[in-house]
Amino acid sequence: MKTLVVVYSRTGNTLSVAKRIAKELDADIETIKDKTNRKGILGFLRSGYESVRKKVPAIVEPKHNPKDFDLVIIGTPIWAGGMSSPVRAYLLRFRGQFNKLAFFATSAGGGHDKALDEMAELTELKPLAKVDISLSQLRRGNGEEVIETFIETIRSQDLI
Ligand SMILES: Cc1cc2nc3c(=O)[nH]c(=O)nc-3n(C[C@H](O)[C@H](O)[C@H](O)COP(=O)(O)O)c2cc1C
Repeated sequence: MKTLVVVYSRTGNTLSVAKRIAKELDADIETIKDKTNRKGILGFLRSGYESVRKKVPAIVEPKHNPKDFDLVIIGTPIWAGGMSSPVRAYLLRFRGQFNKLAFFATSAGGGHDKALDEMAELTELKPLAKVDISLSQLRRGNGEEVIETFIETIRSQDLI
């Protein structure tokens, strides 16, 4: 099974999870590149605003086409309770071209299931697995366990 891990990460947390998943599944990684300046307090505020208003910012054209992969695993940071706007842009760019999907998020608090549900709604596909990992889980080392469970859930359905 050909697997692609797609990730947007402003400060590296979601990217670190993406790398662990990609390593374990021997998957390619696509990093979503944003054209918006998200540095500093203004960048923070802009990002929260875009998430709340469901904005679709310009992204650099991705290298891979998700159509070429059996499974695409998409990771986003949680911004203001929702998916990050660059991930929204990615999902809309490739809507209708995904085979199987799984979603993960990282957030300060964890448990943002609504954001992951909205990713499923946008793509009109039910994910094989979904998880939002909190920063305290990542720091305590629990992240490892949560990531393992996420991968096992995918594996149990698809024999990858
Ligand atoms: C604009 C913005 C809004 C955020 N809103 C939330 C939130 O509503 N709930 C939450 O738990 N964490 C929130 N966070 C924290 C991030 O989700 C968390 O730090 C995440 O791990 C960042 O991922 P990254 O390092 O891959 O960018 C927010 C972060 C930013 C930048």
